[in-house]
Amino acid sequence: MCGIFGYLGSRQASNILLDGLRRLEYRGYDSTGIAVKDETIQIYKKVGKVGDLETILPSQIDGTVGIAHTRWATHGVVSDANAHPHRSANGKVVIVHNGIIENTRQLRTSLTVQGVELQSDTDSEALAHVIERELSVDNNPENAVRRTLHLARGTWGLCVLFLEYDMIVCARNGSPLIIGQGDGEMFVSSDPHALTPYTQRVVFLEDGEMATLTKNQMSLSTIKGKNFDPSITVLEDDWGESELGEYPHFMLKEIYEQPDALRHCISGRLDRVRGNGRLGGLKLEPRDLAKVPHVRLLGCGTAFNAAEIGQMLIEKLARIPAVAHISSEFRHNDPVINPNALHFAVTQSGETADTLSAVKEIQLKGGSVYGVVNVVGSSIARECGKGVYIHSGPEQAVASTKAFSNMVAALSMFALQVGRSRATSKEQGKDLINGLQQIPHLIEEYLENQGPILEAVEMIKDAKCVLFLGRGISAPVAKEGALKLMEIAYIPCLAYPAGEMKHGPIALLEEGSPVVFIAPNDHVKVKTISAMHECKARGARIILIHEEGDDIASEADISIPVPQVHSLLSPLLTVIPTQLIAYHTALALGCNVDRPRNLAKSVTVE
Ligand code: G6P
Repeated sequence: MCGIFGYLGSRQASNILLDGLRRLEYRGYDSTGIAVKDETIQIYKKVGKVGDLETILPSQIDGTVGIAHTRWATHGVVSDANAHPHRSANGKVVIVHNGIIENTRQLRTSLTVQGVELQSDTDSEALAHVIERELSVDNNPENAVRRTLHLARGTWGLCVLFLEYDMIVCARNGSPLIIGQGDGEMFVSSDPHALTPYTQRVVFLEDGEMATLTKNQMSLSTIKGKNFDPSITVLEDDWGESELGEYPHFMLKEIYEQPDALRHCISGRLDRVRGNGRLGGLKLEPRDLAKVPHVRLLGCGTAFNAAEIGQMLIEKLARIPAVAHISSEFRHNDPVINPNALHFAVTQSGETADTLSAVKEIQLKGGSVYGVVNVVGSSIARECGKGVYIHSGPEQAVASTKAFSNMVAALSMFALQVGRSRATSKEQGKDLINGLQQIPHLIEEYLENQGPILEAVEMIKDAKCVLFLGRGISAPVAKEGALKLMEIAYIPCLAYPAGEMKHGPIALLEEGSPVVFIAPNDHVKVKTISAMHECKARGARIILIHEEGDDIASEADISIPVPQVHSLLSPLLTVIPTQLIAYHTALALGCNVDRPRNLAKSVTVE
């Protein structure tokens, strides 16, 4: 989704800004722009990719201060005029903004009355004009931004450039902004990942905070005007390269990174002797765990599918009622919060606005939330203040793969740890630990021998609709497989628990309809086979993901075996062929695998 990058120092800003934009690309966007200050502020912006922006740039842009933006349209169509940066009427104030200004209509009306002609349909542009007006009051850039934000309602990650001052003024409210401190230079971005090539020393702005940056100094204050000292965080080097390397797409690279990602996730977090998890982030004594009345997990998209698996693992191992909730629904349903309950916010980016709102709703009502997060220092990780990092390394493809696996693995360790203080025996714990430790190797084994994925692609690539079915712990895997194929190959997909098929989706089946079944060798397999027979009897063609050596294979038109594993961990293997099917189908249909249309990697608006 929208991204911000800013620089001020002694180097030419334009190349650094473009590099910053490229590092934000993975988040999904539809237009880009940069503004560089020298004698004037030059602005270049364009619909399309960073590469498209480069085609309109002059060979040299002088200036050592600048701001840049990737836009994902919310207010106003995708157009050059609506792309950021936006400039004020006299050209002396230029802004980039993430978030939504809710009272933009009111601000625009008051500006129009004052004779200002707005150049775009965005909610953001008004801020540039109001800042210009406020600057004329006392020629104090920081105060001008502060007064403007007192007039604004909504969310912002905001950076402001001034023609007459060598500084960038930034502010955060509900949309992340991180300042990077270099040697005689400053950086600012909405994404820490974009800063790490330049500096590891960062300051995370919190909601309601502002920063005034010069190349040697940052001064921090609240929007109310109270100054405070920066608290510098030194980012640790993340494992994993953020470059493509030998792979044609990030999605394929990330599918192949799953074994190593899982090794990073479980390393040091399993106690083989006691058959227990050793998650430092679960700051609860067994005595407290025994009293937990229920567990709630929150997530969106892939994270929600992982949360549903977490729900089942927790119920199974800990015998505590658990429910996964879609974050975007949660807050609006006025949920009853029990302060003794366990809540988990599951999120790769740690910035998903819907999940963040759900966290705040729980906290407001006296509950506390554990983060199950990938991006270190992200808003949700900091808001929760406890939980675990899933250590997937940077995930760049919009379609999440390795983060899904690591969410499931992290939740399985939580389930084990809660379970051991309640219902799970040491032997059961040891079994699960054995299973978890085998998974990375088993995924490698499967990736060496993937089965007839391309045949499956042939069967589904021209289908009107693809049905994904699974039962029990495989039902969320079916959902995840359907989500992946729909997201990147644009094929309408439905996912259902297999038993529910006869209550609706069966109406869609006709001669040749492709149905993907996820049926590992667990206690519900026999029931899944019945659903498969019902599909076959109506002419459907079956792609079956199952365990190696299982004679269920003979039921399928296309059979894709995966290695056998502990039955509670089967999603970590059965999901891989669904990822590969989605990837190869998208390729076969000529789709942009890593940056599917309209989607964003990190959805920072509700
Ligand atoms: C977006 C992405 C999905 C992702 C979801 C939740 O919709 O396109 O791939 O699963 O957000 O993101 P999160 O960062 O919270 O896991």
